[in-house]
Amino acid sequence: SQHSKKHAPALTHFQGHWCLSQLVPNVISFQKHFQALDDDIVLASKPKTGTTWLKSLAFSIMNRNRFTLSDSPLNSSNPHDLVPYFEMTLYKDGQIPDFADVSSPRLFSTHLPYQALAESIKQSNSRIVYIARNPLDVIVSLWHFITSKPERADWTLEECFEQFCRGEEAYGPFWDHVLRYWKESSEKPNKVLFLKYEDMKENAKPHIRKMAEFMGFPFSVEEETAGVIEEIAKFCSLSNLKDLEVNKTGTLAASPRQTKPFFRKGEVGDYVNYLSNSAVERFCKIFDEKLSGSGLTFRMSL
Ligand code: A3P
Repeated sequence: SQHSKKHAPALTHFQGHWCLSQLVPNVISFQKHFQALDDDIVLASKPKTGTTWLKSLAFSIMNRNRFTLSDSPLNSSNPHDLVPYFEMTLYKDGQIPDFADVSSPRLFSTHLPYQALAESIKQSNSRIVYIARNPLDVIVSLWHFITSKPERADWTLEECFEQFCRGEEAYGPFWDHVLRYWKESSEKPNKVLFLKYEDMKENAKPHIRKMAEFMGFPFSVEEETAGVIEEIAKFCSLSNLKDLEVNKTGTLAASPRQTKPFFRKGEVGDYVNYLSNSAVERFCKIFDEKLSGSGLTFRMSL
C-alpha cells in the first residue's frame, strides 16, 4: 500500500514496516545479494537515535591501530561516508556493490528493522550494534532534520508527531523496531549489542569499552591506562565533530545531503521545548502499552 503526504517522504508498507518508497528496490537487492562475513559489524538504528555518533565511535575503535585520532579519516570525512548504509548507499538504485576491495573486518550500517536484514547477516557470526533513543527526542530531532531541506521546510512538527503516534514513520513503527532488536539482544547477547543514547550521554566510557569487546577489538590494559577510551570519547563528541569543516559546510559523498544537520543539539529531553504536555502524555500512553512486559525502558531526562 502506498502512503504519501505532501511534504513527508513517500512511504510504502513493505515486509512489516514503513519503507521509504524509493528504497524498496535497494532493500530487495540487499536481501537477495548481500553475503555477510563472520567478522562483519553492522551498526543498526532508527533514524535520529545517534547513528552518526555510533558510526564515529565504531570506526574509531576498529581503526585505532591504523591511524592516530589526529590522522583519522573522520577529520576530513563525514561518518556516513566512512560507514555506508546498505539500503541508501551500497545497494542504491538496486545495484549490486563490489566488495572486492573492502578489507575485513567490514563495517556497515542500516536503518532497516531486524526482519528486513539480509538472511546471511542473521545466519553468519557477523555482529550487530544497535543504538536506541527515547522516541520523543527522536521525533523532535527528525523534524529538525527533515525540515532542514528547503523543499520540506513546511513539514510541521504536528504532522511528524502524528505519524509516529500511528507508527507510520520511515522504518517504523518505532516500537516494533526497538522491540525486535531488544528481543534479539536478550536472546543472543553475542549477536546483538543494544545501546541507549541516554546512557551514553551520561557516561560514554563503559559503553565504548563494551562496544570494543563486543566488536572483537577489546582495549588492552596499556590502552586503558593511557586513556585511549577517554580520547575516543572526546574525539567522537558532538562538540568536536560538529566543529570540523567537513561537518559544517560539507555534503555527503553518496547523496546531495548537507552534513551539518546531522549535528544539532545532542541533548536528552529537548522534546520538552517542543511538545505540549498533552502530546507527550498521548504518545507515552501508546508507547508504554507497546513496550509493556518487554523490560525495555527509556530515560526522558538525565
Ligand atoms: P538532536 O537533533 O537531538 O540534536 P542520527 O545520527 O541517528 O541521525 O541522530 C542525530 C542526533 O544525534 C541529533 O540529535 C544529533 O545532534 C545527535 N548527534 C550527532 N552526533 C553526535 C555525537 N557525536 N554525540 C552525541 N550526539 C550526536
